[in-house]
Amino acid sequence: MKKIVIKLNGETRYTHVEPNDTLLDILRDNLGATSVKSGCERGDCGACAVLLQGESVRSCLIFAVEADGQAVETIEGMSKDRKMSDLQTAFHEKNAFQCGFCAPGTIISTVELLKENPQPEKAEIQEAIAGNLCRCTGYSTIIDTVKEFSEKK
Ligand code: FES
Ligand code: FES
Repeated sequence: MKKIVIKLNGETRYTHVEPNDTLLDILRDNLGATSVKSGCERGDCGACAVLLQGESVRSCLIFAVEADGQAVETIEGMSKDRKMSDLQTAFHEKNAFQCGFCAPGTIISTVELLKENPQPEKAEIQEAIAGNLCRCTGYSTIIDTVKEFSEKK
């Protein structure tokens, strides 16, 4: 076991990891960040997306030891005092998700997109969330929500 430190949503967290633990494993099992979902565990579905040093990554493809000393953001860090962020509220009000399994990863991809491109076109939104597989919605409400949200900002 190796002791590592992660700045998780701004909070310094220490944990012990095995060499083959993924970042996904330890976020969920050691650090309580259960918004991060385990889907395919091979980089295909995007359910495990988090921001690592501000960039969206698939946490199932990263060993926990690789994240030692780095900043990780999950959607747990987006709500304040148990109140959803404006972006989360926009998705909620539009009923953009159904089962919600893909929501955390899709929201992480959206956060990254809007940071780089605050007024994206629909095609750019589509491209940004192309790696987040959703089995329920057909994507159009998700894309419309992001478009409307960005236009109101
Ligand atoms: Fe990581 Fe599917 S669980 S991409
Ligand atoms: Fe169910 Fe996307 S809302 S997988």
